[in-house]
Amino acid sequence: MCRGSLRKAWGAHAAALARRGRRAYRSRAVMQNPSIPQRKITVVGAGYVGSTCAHLCALKNLASEIVLIDIVEGRPQGIALDMNQSAVVENFGCRVIGTNDPKDTQGSDLFIVTAGIPRKPGMSRSDLLEVNAKVVIGVSDYIRQGSPEAFVIVVTNPLDSMVTLCRARTGFPGQRVMGMAGVLDSARFSWFISEATKANVQDVRAMVLGAHGDSMVPLPQYTTVNGVQLKELVPADKIAEMSKRTRNGGAEIVNLLKTGSAYYAPASSSVAMAASILNDQKRLLPVACFLNGQYGMEGIYMGVPAILGKAGVERILEIGLDNESRIQLNKTAGAIAADVQLLRDKKLM
Ligand code: APR
Repeated sequence: MCRGSLRKAWGAHAAALARRGRRAYRSRAVMQNPSIPQRKITVVGAGYVGSTCAHLCALKNLASEIVLIDIVEGRPQGIALDMNQSAVVENFGCRVIGTNDPKDTQGSDLFIVTAGIPRKPGMSRSDLLEVNAKVVIGVSDYIRQGSPEAFVIVVTNPLDSMVTLCRARTGFPGQRVMGMAGVLDSARFSWFISEATKANVQDVRAMVLGAHGDSMVPLPQYTTVNGVQLKELVPADKIAEMSKRTRNGGAEIVNLLKTGSAYYAPASSSVAMAASILNDQKRLLPVACFLNGQYGMEGIYMGVPAILGKAGVERILEIGLDNESRIQLNKTAGAIAADVQLLRDKKLM
């Protein structure tokens, strides 16, 4: 592209942004790199998961503007400055903005919500219910007011009830509000399979459905190593052992870390979902989706295979399940419903 047409393209883009009432993009980095999609991602929570999400979004040039918001003064600003100073080294053209002001999130195309407290050893994800619900309520309110067209990927635990709460509070269609769990749980299962088979993890395709908790449902029958069924490669008792380790995958890391919970794989999984939506990749991923009769369930969120594209959850796939998996899926739905009922009992939803 010649300099004249580049300037013209930038001018048209700036005018479009102004029309949308957004702050003009003055960053030299952005202006120098017009190939970066002119859009805005907000990551809520500048803790371990949130800051890793923001970094991955920047490294992947997913948006021209990445807002990192937290309630702790200075933290998101410091992280943003640090990340921006890595731009020249990593060759990314996004601008990261750290803030404590929800106004700066206005007009975002997509939110990744990681705000809240993580687990401590001995805690279940449900132990976080009340405290994180209050955080999700506040965040959902400013998402609804400032970014009424946004997609929302909820990461805060207990995931399935927090995403249910976020949808109820924003009033957004279920297609635009989803939870990150299955991508992470499947990635964990994939890693254990790769270790057991000695096959490259890139060749492993694993599927884990249900709640993001101890009742999640790994599906070995839908898991292959480059098309070869898992049961051809690994004995049944080893598959059962790996499934169990996957269910406890988060707790295993919490116990090792002593303070805080996992963040690299949760952030990678969240950003993979964001990329599939924003770049219309139509990836088939296990996603916590709002169910409207699928799998015989109505009005709850649960991890199921879905296609993510520019409309959000574009299609939920109903795959055939054996009796055992169906029983487990019903059990997992019961665990989610219990948490949601607790939210109602505490008048949080
Ligand atoms: N708005 C914005 N940020 C908030 C708010 C709020 N209302 N309340 C808390 N936070 C911030 C905290 O200040 C903290 O910086 O959320 C951040 C959470 O970060 P960490 O404590 O490092 O937790 P993290 O490991 O990132 O996990 C975040 O993701 O995987 C889940 O279970 C995990 O629910 C937890 C979430």
